[in-house]
Amino acid sequence: MQPNLLQAMAVFFIFIFMTIILNIRNPTRVFAQADEQSRNCSSSFQCGNLSGVAYPFWGSNQPSYCGHLGFQLNCKGQAAEITIMNLTYQVLKINSQSQTLTVARADYIANLCPSVLSNTTLDPNLFTYAADIQNITLFYGCPNTNMSFPTTPGFSSPFSCNLSSVNSQNFYLTRHADSFPTVISTYLRTCGSRLIVPANQSVVQRIESNPTEENLVEVLEQGFGLQWTANDTLCKSCELSGGLCGYNSTASAFTCYCPGQRYPFTCATSSAKDGMLCSGFFPEIYLQEY
Ligand SMILES: *[C@@H]1O[C@H](CO)[C@@H](O)[C@H](O)[C@H]1NC(C)=O
Ligand SMILES: *[C@@H]1O[C@H](CO)[C@@H](O)[C@H](O)[C@H]1NC(C)=O
Ligand SMILES: *[C@@H]1O[C@H](CO)[C@@H](O)[C@H](O)[C@H]1NC(C)=O
Ligand SMILES: *[C@@H]1O[C@H](CO)[C@@H](O)[C@H](O)[C@H]1NC(C)=O
Ligand SMILES: *[C@@H]1O[C@H](CO)[C@@H](O)[C@H](O)[C@H]1NC(C)=O
Ligand SMILES: *[C@@H]1O[C@H](CO)[C@@H](O)[C@H](O)[C@H]1NC(C)=O
Ligand SMILES: *[C@@H]1O[C@H](CO)[C@@H](O)[C@H](O)[C@H]1NC(C)=O
Ligand SMILES: *[C@@H]1O[C@H](CO)[C@@H](O)[C@H](O)[C@H]1NC(C)=O
Ligand SMILES: *[C@@H]1O[C@H](CO)[C@@H](O)[C@H](O)[C@H]1NC(C)=O
Ligand SMILES: *[C@@H]1O[C@H](CO)[C@@H](O)[C@H](O)[C@H]1NC(C)=O
Repeated sequence: MQPNLLQAMAVFFIFIFMTIILNIRNPTRVFAQADEQSRNCSSSFQCGNLSGVAYPFWGSNQPSYCGHLGFQLNCKGQAAEITIMNLTYQVLKINSQSQTLTVARADYIANLCPSVLSNTTLDPNLFTYAADIQNITLFYGCPNTNMSFPTTPGFSSPFSCNLSSVNSQNFYLTRHADSFPTVISTYLRTCGSRLIVPANQSVVQRIESNPTEENLVEVLEQGFGLQWTANDTLCKSCELSGGLCGYNSTASAFTCYCPGQRYPFTCATSSAKDGMLCSGFFPEIYLQEY
């Protein structure tokens, strides 16, 4: 072998060696963005009275990429609020273990006369009602009547509201309208509008024998349960692999933040050092994936 070729080979191997060393020592340059994003997401945060709030929720000082779209919390003093299909709810409890939360409609807090009458509607991709809910049907703008209705559990006494500055007579039912005496269900069909607000079944049962205005306010303040779905299985395996769950709203996809970079599902299964080596050699490939 010629000495020149040997020299060239030595230089080449030293170059390769240096590249490896530099990439192990300093991967942050290449993965600065992913690193900074995962640093900006803490594993849990405080919102209003709720502490230890984590993925899929974000808000407060947690940017949107730390949670799942649709789980933004608005932290207002002691209250934590979430907006679902344009309606705002106060979040009273979050249970990450069972993926449930307890919410109360913000427009019905201490009030049975919201300025806009809206049904409770969920985004079916993200939420379903908990098994322990009971629907309450509210009837607004009912005609004034002298009729005396039979006393029936779950049929409220009338309450009044000023709707669009018109005083109206209103009622509520804690059970489906069809299960009441005909005289009641026929009358309620003549009311201006009806809407459904879910409540906690066991809390409703306590007021069925005394369905007053004040009692309904108290029931609605207790809120009702929702079950959520937000790639929670993916999140669990991401966390098991040492990552932090997040969301890419541009790609509408789950993201797993791992030390040094992000992955679509879980942190690479190979050892951390091998992962760095690989990603050091082919940074473009990893970056283009996202
Ligand atoms: C991380 O948070 C800091 C401070 O809030 C902010 O300036 C920076 O832009 C955030 N980084 C990313 C990648 O969003
Ligand atoms: C927050 O907690 C305090 C004290 O526990 C309580 O007085 C207050 O009503 C709570 N606020 C909300 C919005 O739940
Ligand atoms: C939500 O409310 C805004 C403004 O009130 C309206 O423009 C939008 O269409 C509503 N979206 C839905 C899904 O109802
Ligand atoms: C309550 O009403 C909603 C519609 O607003 C319906 O989807 C749900 O099944 C009802 N749940 C119960 C327990 O009646
Ligand atoms: C209710 O009764 C009063 C007196 O008995 C009567 O003047 C009034 O027209 C009645 N109202 C309705 C809505 O039937
Ligand atoms: C409705 O408005 C009238 C006067 O405008 C007032 O006397 C009454 O208390 C109001 N009722 C409710 C339920 O706010
Ligand atoms: C609410 O939903 C019920 C049943 O789904 C419907 O009959 C009613 O008209 C709706 N009310 C409003 C205000 O949209
Ligand atoms: C419903 O109320 C019961 C009794 O107050 C409570 O144990 C349960 O946790 C409540 N359910 C939800 C979903 O908040
Ligand atoms: C993640 O959740 C979104 C909606 O919440 C869903 O469209 C998507 O299919 C889920 N991805 C996986 C891999 O489960
Ligand atoms: C989100 O996905 C888009 C397109 O796939 C990509 O360009 C962007 O870098 C990703 N952002 C994050 C925060 O992962």
